Amino acid sequence: MSTSEGQKSEISSGERHIFVCQYHSCLHQNSQEVLKTFEAETKNLVGVNIEPSSCLGQCSIGPTVRIIPDEIWYYRVQPEHIPLIVRQHLKGNKPIDEMLNPRIHPRF
Ligand code: FES
Repeated sequence: MSTSEGQKSEISSGERHIFVCQYHSCLHQNSQEVLKTFEAETKNLVGVNIEPSSCLGQCSIGPTVRIIPDEIWYYRVQPEHIPLIVRQHLKGNKPIDEMLNPRIHPRF
């Protein structure tokens, strides 16, 4: 899937992996709490796997979260954002446009 396809308002559902960066810069920006909140908020969701990740190359705009196979990247994710990601993206299959990493999902 290209990055432009990732900006469609509807994406397919299925088995997902959510990578939450746990490397230096993101850890300094609260990514450990982001990881814990994702684990707590998705524990009853089938087909969602939360995985700690090493650096995803987006250090200055972390905490970084990458969701595959959707190939959606969120930036500056904080624990309070997780319920919306769960509700709108993971359950509703609609990525949150305002939270898309602008380097990976450029707006034209
Ligand atoms: S430290 Fe998280 S993206 Fe690099």
